[in-house]
Amino acid sequence: MACCNSNTRRDEGIRVIAIDGPAGAGKSTVAKRLASILQCAYLDTGAMYRALTLKALRQGINLDDEDKLVELANKTSIDLEGDFEKLKVFLDGEDVSEEIRTLNVTNHTFYVARAPRVREIMVRWQRSVGSKKSVVVEGRDVTTVVFPNAYRKFYLDGNVEERAKRRIKELEAKGQMVDAAQLLKDVQERDEKDLTRKYGALKKADDAIYIDSTPLTAEQVVEEMLKHIKN
Ligand code: DC
Repeated sequence: MACCNSNTRRDEGIRVIAIDGPAGAGKSTVAKRLASILQCAYLDTGAMYRALTLKALRQGINLDDEDKLVELANKTSIDLEGDFEKLKVFLDGEDVSEEIRTLNVTNHTFYVARAPRVREIMVRWQRSVGSKKSVVVEGRDVTTVVFPNAYRKFYLDGNVEERAKRRIKELEAKGQMVDAAQLLKDVQERDEKDLTRKYGALKKADDAIYIDSTPLTAEQVVEEMLKHIKN
């Protein structure tokens, strides 16, 4: 298998598989399964933006103030531990894996993600992970900005109604009440923000392989990706 274990010299054997796409396209599920099959690390870049947002919210920082966000990012440590089976997110040593998934954090991450100098710091952190080990990484700009030379790049898309339905199922499985119409609206708004952000906007890299997940199961998406990775 091309990724990820290799006996060659240190950086020569390192492979990055990068996956971008809109919210709810199934990136996390697929990235974790790929990492498991390929026996390499899994990097959820969205979790990093979420963790910094959580800290900014807790400290009551004005999310429009980029200088303050940069200052905060420079005094923050975000560690992703564990692997594709159970990724844990630590914010200054505290396990915030659950808290970063709340609606409040989800709805505010946009402010942190649109600040160019915060993105620069995030990109540095993410590249440093990818320079040490083989990794399957997912996000919005990982194929275009963070790892433009990744071994394989994918753009995982999906019809917005289908993506909203999947999100509803996930939340219901966690026992949460969901307003379906509101959730669809939220997903549409997140798409708009991701696509129109001035820096780090979601877009398909010219050389990324496009996969529409709408008619596919996660297993089928993984199979399709594996075909390209093995080629
Ligand atoms: O993938 P996610 O929903 O956990 O991402 C959370 C937020 O972070 C979302 O608003 C998009 C943003 N994000 C980003 O701007 N760049 C990335 N590489 C990953 C996520």
